[in-house]
Amino acid sequence: MIAVVLILIMKPAGPVSAAWSVTFKNPDPCALKGASVEFRCSYSYPETENVLKTSWYKGCMKDGHWKRVDLSVLPSYQNRSEYLGDQQHSCGLALHNLQDNDTGHYYFGLETDKYIRQSQDSVFLSVTELNVRVSPQRVRMGDNVKLECGMSCEPAPSTVWLKDTQPITNTEFQAQADDAGTYVCVVEGLESVNSHSVTLDVQYSPLNVSVEVTPPGLLAVGSSVNLTCSSAANPVADNYTWYRATASTSITQVGSGPVLSFPSMEESHNGVYVCQAGNHLGENNSTEVLLTVGRTDIYKSILIGIGVTVLLLLLLPLVIIWIWKHYRKSADTEEHSHDYENVSASHDYENVTTS
Ligand SMILES: *[C@@H]1O[C@H](CO)[C@@H](O)[C@H](O)[C@H]1NC(C)=O
Ligand SMILES: *[C@@H]1O[C@H](CO)[C@@H](O)[C@H](O)[C@H]1NC(C)=O
Ligand SMILES: *[C@@H]1O[C@H](CO)[C@@H](O)[C@H](O)[C@H]1NC(C)=O
Ligand SMILES: *[C@@H]1O[C@H](CO)[C@@H](O)[C@H](O)[C@H]1NC(C)=O
Ligand SMILES: *[C@@H]1O[C@H](CO)[C@@H](O)[C@H](O)[C@H]1NC(C)=O
Ligand SMILES: *[C@@H]1O[C@H](CO)[C@@H](O)[C@H](O)[C@H]1NC(C)=O
Ligand SMILES: *[C@@H]1O[C@H](CO)[C@@H](O)[C@H](O)[C@H]1NC(C)=O
Repeated sequence: MIAVVLILIMKPAGPVSAAWSVTFKNPDPCALKGASVEFRCSYSYPETENVLKTSWYKGCMKDGHWKRVDLSVLPSYQNRSEYLGDQQHSCGLALHNLQDNDTGHYYFGLETDKYIRQSQDSVFLSVTELNVRVSPQRVRMGDNVKLECGMSCEPAPSTVWLKDTQPITNTEFQAQADDAGTYVCVVEGLESVNSHSVTLDVQYSPLNVSVEVTPPGLLAVGSSVNLTCSSAANPVADNYTWYRATASTSITQVGSGPVLSFPSMEESHNGVYVCQAGNHLGENNSTEVLLTVGRTDIYKSILIGIGVTVLLLLLLPLVIIWIWKHYRKSADTEEHSHDYENVSASHDYENVTTS
């Protein structure tokens, strides 16, 4: 707290003023660009005077001289300054959406029916930014990364890192592929105030190498078929090698480049294919893709159709015979069961024996 010695600017022909004082409770606040700050302030003056007007001034350099300029005449403060005080003893001021050039000295002034007074001391406001760093900025997958966020204000508010609006819990981690991206640091509870963003680049050899067969499905002799290799890699894969294996041959290299093209498929192309994708960090293999060129769909369905028909024709007599036999058998059983019912219903041993 600072009790401020005062300057008096006497109104022309006014009498000598009695004592007044201004107290700035946070005389050197520090705040973040974009945030708000509050100057806490109180004042006192002789009871014989009546306050007509209160003002806050900013110390501005004009033509090589420091001048105090009333905030109410500075357009850039118009919508951002808010007088929290009154015309008795409170003279607080809030400044919102702070800009870099808000840094500087601020003075309080009072006009009564007898005197115009301005504080001799000032509030010194520092507007600062969050200083952020990701180190290193470019890593290989698995390397350690550290995110640092700080500010020159004391005490510093607590901050949190965000990636795509999601909070990051660990600011030191081993980089994975999906850690690549843009990070910002924000003041907790004040998410509108954020740092400039920092970018992390994570490099890795190809992952998720996959092969797409076009057209998909069963392949016909003589048709055009392409195998296209894709992968996730940073930097993107630039070296593709195709391998083929069959039951009778060992693994052989059959091509290079992201697409393996067969303008006209033949049975000799059958086999298991693997694509190897690489960048300067290494290479990785796709899962195996089995290519079998055979009879077309139509042949297959005709074959299946014939098979099913033959089977039905063979089965039909058997089914008829079975049904016929079953019918007869069940008719017989019915008779027998009637007999049995009669016997069991009588429950009279002697009756049965005598009959
Ligand atoms: C202040 O706000 C009013 C209304 O919201 C707007 O018309 C005016 O341009 C603003 N002035 C400044 C200096 O930003
Ligand atoms: C501060 O900077 C803003 C733009 O960033 C400008 O509009 C304003 O006039 C400046 N204020 C002063 C007092 O120089
Ligand atoms: C690889 O595939 C998995 C499972 O689909 C996925 O979670 C992961 O993000 C992929 N990796 C990359 C680097 O795209
Ligand atoms: C190959 O990729 C798979 C995931 O697609 C990954 O689990 C494996 O570690 C990779 N191998 C190499 C040598 O990079
Ligand atoms: C395979 O690729 C070649 C050249 O890129 C193209 O002319 C052909 O139409 C493709 N064939 C299929 C089935 O996609
Ligand atoms: C591409 O990959 C093959 C197989 O791993 C390797 O022999 C070759 O040196 C690579 N070429 C380049 C330009 O990296
Ligand atoms: C990929 O497959 C080729 C051929 O089978 C093999 O020589 C190579 O070692 C494999 N590479 C990886 C990373 O598995």
